[in-house]
Formats: sequence, C-alpha cells, structure tokens
Amino acid sequence: MTFKVTPWEVEGSIDYEKLIRDFGTQRISEELRKEIKGLAGEEHLLLRRHVFFSHRDLDKILAEYKQGKGFFLYTGRGPSGKMHIGHLIPFIFTAWLQKVFDVNVYIEITDDEKFVYNRKYKWKEVQQYADENILDIAVAGFDPQKTFIFKDSEYIKHLYPLALEVARKITYSTAKAVFGFTGSTNIGLIFYPSLQIVPTFFEKRRALIPCAIDQDPYWRIQRDIAESLGYYKTAAIHSIFLPPLTGIHDKMSSSKPETAIFLDDDELTVKKKVMKYAFSGGQPSIEEHRKKGGNPDIDVSFQWLYMFFEEDDNKLEEIRKAYASGKMLTGELKQYLIEKINVFLKEHRHKREKEGKKLVRKMMYDGKLAKRMWSLDYSDVFGV
Ligand code: TYM
Repeated sequence: MTFKVTPWEVEGSIDYEKLIRDFGTQRISEELRKEIKGLAGEEHLLLRRHVFFSHRDLDKILAEYKQGKGFFLYTGRGPSGKMHIGHLIPFIFTAWLQKVFDVNVYIEITDDEKFVYNRKYKWKEVQQYADENILDIAVAGFDPQKTFIFKDSEYIKHLYPLALEVARKITYSTAKAVFGFTGSTNIGLIFYPSLQIVPTFFEKRRALIPCAIDQDPYWRIQRDIAESLGYYKTAAIHSIFLPPLTGIHDKMSSSKPETAIFLDDDELTVKKKVMKYAFSGGQPSIEEHRKKGGNPDIDVSFQWLYMFFEEDDNKLEEIRKAYASGKMLTGELKQYLIEKINVFLKEHRHKREKEGKKLVRKMMYDGKLAKRMWSLDYSDVFGV
C-alpha cells in the first residue's frame, strides 16, 4: 500500500517502520525509555504507549543534560485553522518535558508558512487562527516564565538575519529533494524552511524538538548545515499521528471536520461525531459481535483510548478484553470514549477562558524568557 508523509500532506496507510528507515531516524529503545524515566522520575503516557516512537540524538540530549550542559525545547504550529486534539499532543508532551527537565521552551507560530502554502487564505484569517491557536497552546501546561511563543510575522526582525544565513546554505535542488517542491511551488514556500530552522539556533546548546514525524524533513536539513554555522545539530522526538475518527489509515484534517474532534467542539458535537464517524472494529450485528468479538487494533475509539484518553493500564486492558470477546459492544466503547473526550475538553476550555489571555501575554511579551527574547538584538540572540 502506498502512502505519503510530507510537512504539508499525509495520505494513505502509514508504515512507521518504513518512515524510520526512509528518514534515517531511530526507534526509541526500551533502554532509552528507561533512562528518561529514571531522569524524569516518572514516565509519560505518550512514551509508555509508544506514541512518541522515533528520535534523532535523544541519547545525546540526555548525556548533555547529565553533564550539566542542558538543552532547550522547540516546537510549533502552523495556524491553518482550528486546532484538533491531534495538534495538542506535541504541546502536552513538550510541557511535560519542560516540567521534568526544567528547561526553556520556544514555540513558533508560522503564520507566514500557512499564508504562502494555501492561496485561498486571507492574511486576516490566518491572523485570527493564529490568535485562537495561541490561546489553546498557552494552556497546555507550560511555565510562563520559561516559555516564549512568537509569531513569525511579528518576531521577524530577530529571525531574518539568521534565516538568510540558513537560506544561503541550502540549494534549490536540496530543498526540492527534501520537500518535493516543483516548478509550480510558489517562492514564498521555497524560502520558508529557513524560518522553521532558525529557532533551533536560539541557544548555544542542543535543541530537542517534539513533533509528529511529518516535520522531520526540516530537521534533516538543519543537521546538515548547523555545525558549519557554529551551532548544534538539533535532536528530535517524533510521534505517530492520532488517527482520524474515520479510520486509522489517514491523517486528521481541519478541512474534513468529520475526521477530527476540535478543541471547541461542544459535548453534543463530540457525541454525534464519535457515534456517526468513529471507525469501528466491531461486527455488523449484535449477535455476530457477541459471538466473534471486535478488533481493537483497527477500532479508532479503542486507539484513541490507548494513545491518549485512558491513562489506567488495567482499565484499558479490561476494555480490550471485553471488546475483543464481544462482551462490550461498539456503542458502549464509543460512549466511554465520548465521556473521556468531553471531560478533557471541558477542562481545556475552562483553563482557556480563565487563564488563557494572561498566559498568552506572559509567554509572548511579559514573562522572563519572552522579555529576554524581545530585548536581544541579532548578535546577542545568535552569539555572532
Ligand atoms: P502543524 O500546525 O501542521 O502541526 C502542529 C503539530 O502537531 C503535529 N500533528 C499531529 N500530532 C499528532 N497527531 C496528529 N494527527 C497530528 N497532526 C499534526 C505536527 O507534527 C506538529 O508538531 N510547520 C509546522 C509548524 C512548526 C513546527 C515547528 C512544528 C514550526 N516550527 C517545530 C513542530 C516543530 C506546522 O505546520 O505544524
């Protein structure tokens, strides 16, 4: 079966083993997982359940942390629409890493990228999405004094000189090979990768980037040029995709509302979407289901519980057995997931309403790290 994973398109049934081979990344070994657990003092669900499954130089990050050199975290979001639950995964994980390792986090909001990528967007629209997305990101659990959220178009004065240094190191044929650019790609998008690389140079130590595997092509290029510019090759920790409701062989898309649960979907919408669209591993009739049981491996409701919504291993195992044996029906499994999603979203929205604006102000302008980043000039930021 064919599939495609680029930073802008994900299609088909994804073979993650093949991606590791093609991209030249490494699977997160049991040993590495244990080491993180030892240093962090706890293990995050997203590691335990192998949602974060691949990496580049994560071992170096841990070694440098132990030596006292430390590291910093960098991640981002392209504001192309409302955020869905999948988009929040890297941010929740990044906030956890920040908490346990006590490090700075930089979050890039690529309004420029989305504007040039999709010609149907108006500038104003992208700005509205950016504002909304930033509110969602700000309540994901970050330390407001040690987190800097910046929008490319606003922080550009500080990014641009180094973006140019990066740009003149990358030929069009490299960019074409890595990103699949063609003669009809607009020149805005061709320059854009240099801006996604710049934040990996914000500190004179190694960056660790949590993201889904689709963003890896940028890091491949960064690693080719970083040392020649006097910086560290970035490390990365990659997740698989939270599958779309409609089936495990796809990616959630903001342009197909039935594939995703958005962070602002109300309780009834969540219920309707899961009931109507969540791909089921159950049998066509109750009698048959009771006899043969369901298949949790292809059942999206079960996969969502496994990847994110059911923390309790024992409870998850109980559900798996009940579903596979036919004791639990698809409707019951869906109902269980619906409740979990609604509890999660209710809390998210509560935080967003209560603390969102204040946190955004701190992380973008007034917090300790934000203030420092705005006060630096180019030569300070980049140690030139
Ligand atoms: P964007 O906005 O497409 O995605 C934001 C982040 O969410 C991840 N992601 C997912 N994770 C789990 N399940 C899914 N279904 C899912 N869909 C998307 C993405 O991998 C990403 O981590 N160009 C970037 C913005 C960016 C960035 C970065 C991302 C700038 N700098 C550094 C990561 C790290 C973008 O458009 O992401």
